[in-house]
Amino acid sequence: MNEQEAIRLLAEARKAIEVSYAPCSGFRVGAAILTGGGRVYRGANIESPSLTQVFCAERVALLSALMASERDFIAIAIASEGGRLTPPCGLCRQMLFEFAPDILIIMEEEGRPKIMKLSELLPLPFELQE
Ligand code: THU
Repeated sequence: MNEQEAIRLLAEARKAIEVSYAPCSGFRVGAAILTGGGRVYRGANIESPSLTQVFCAERVALLSALMASERDFIAIAIASEGGRLTPPCGLCRQMLFEFAPDILIIMEEEGRPKIMKLSELLPLPFELQE
């Protein structure tokens, strides 16, 4: 994943912010996940006012790709309104690990892509089987 590819994926994540539904937090997030075949699936955070349900942009993007029978993932980009650095939450890290342990995480830091491996962000994941 070079810088140009990361910038393109971040742009997809930024577009996804448009469909965010965040009446509780007001914090709008978009994500875009890139498959080995070159397809991109977007996700945005969706909240329920009951405050018991929050679907992060990353998981929405991942689930969207999984529902299209995708199983091979290269990178996921995350952007939030205002451009602030938005690392994935613990739940999303663990969920990404389940399907894409080697995935790259692309975040936005002062307008530039910051690329990290999921394994750096989740060094000791839970695994049902060793
Ligand atoms: N959120 C995401 O969608 N992704 C992240 O990486 C961090 C947090 C959402 C969840 C919730 O809807 C809002 O941001 C505030 O936590």
